Amino acid sequence: MAMTDELAAIKAQVREGLDKAQTVEELEQVRVAATGKKGRLTAIMRMMGKVAPEERPAMGKLANTVRSNIEAMIAARRGELDQAALDRKISAEAVDVTLPGRSSRIGTQHLISQIREEIEDVFCGLGYTVEDGPYIEDVYHNFTALNAPVDHPSRSANDTFYVVDNAPEGKGDLGLSSSDLLLRTQTSGVQVHVMEQRKPPIYMICPGTVFRPDTADANHLPQFTQVEGLVVDEGITFGDLKGTLDYFCREIFGKDRATRYRPHFFPFTEPSCEVDVSCGVCHGKGCRFCKNTGWLEILGCGMVDPNVLRYVDIDPEKYTGFAFGIGVERVAALRYDLPDLRMLMTGDERFLKQF
Ligand code: DAH
Repeated sequence: MAMTDELAAIKAQVREGLDKAQTVEELEQVRVAATGKKGRLTAIMRMMGKVAPEERPAMGKLANTVRSNIEAMIAARRGELDQAALDRKISAEAVDVTLPGRSSRIGTQHLISQIREEIEDVFCGLGYTVEDGPYIEDVYHNFTALNAPVDHPSRSANDTFYVVDNAPEGKGDLGLSSSDLLLRTQTSGVQVHVMEQRKPPIYMICPGTVFRPDTADANHLPQFTQVEGLVVDEGITFGDLKGTLDYFCREIFGKDRATRYRPHFFPFTEPSCEVDVSCGVCHGKGCRFCKNTGWLEILGCGMVDPNVLRYVDIDPEKYTGFAFGIGVERVAALRYDLPDLRMLMTGDERFLKQF
């Protein structure tokens, strides 16, 4: 084929190829076939040296013109395809603002956290500070400095999770033997920590998790939540204790619930009481929920034992105080008439979403 015909054929082939090409990749194939290293036009250019000298200038000019035509055609088609791709992308990403939205499910705070915060609010309103303490406690803070005698049953391994030290010589990094450390069985140890660091007046609460080797049943959980309270100041009396805790019960359970104070024993308070709130199911008449007593126990309390103050170098002749420990799961059970504390541990949304 004469070179002019070949050039015309190449141009026609490119034109046809470009018309068919629907993507930048297809366009690229057309370009490579014509002007790539092994392309048809490139081959012609290479043969230019073999053209008779008198024809060479005209033929060279023609070939160059064809090449620039081809390049212009390719560039124009590339522009069209780029625009089409952009249009497709824009329409694919378009948002139909008239479509109904997908609602996302919003979580809620767990009932225990809600109540813990509510209790914090009540005492913060009275000017108390909110303290924190360690989950892993030593025997001194959990028992000894709280005036618990060495043979007190609460110290036994049946009632306390002792931390087992796996270090080779039985002494870990802390230099304590296993039986010195435990998962705190009560938040009362935080009283001792706070009084070691600060002197009266002290008005504090400490909410937190505590642990006991109990099997979970309707009334017990191996891990639960307490709010400890401690007041130490000059001239604090049992009247202050009762006024404060009655106020607390009214705020949390409502004005129609009655309270009663039953004498009890705790090593760290003297005298000590347990406080009951009237049953919300039977309003004091007696039912299965309150085991026919009409009352439900929610906290322990008492006047701080002078021995506890002596452990932390606070003068019991000058200062007196009261302390209390509220069971948060019990407050939840009482307020919402929950028949079984285990409901609070399940994570069952059908239950938890009601609050
Ligand atoms: N620590 C007690 C318990 O776990 C609760 C308690 C009772 C705390 C009386 C106190 C208190 O601070 O004064 O059963």
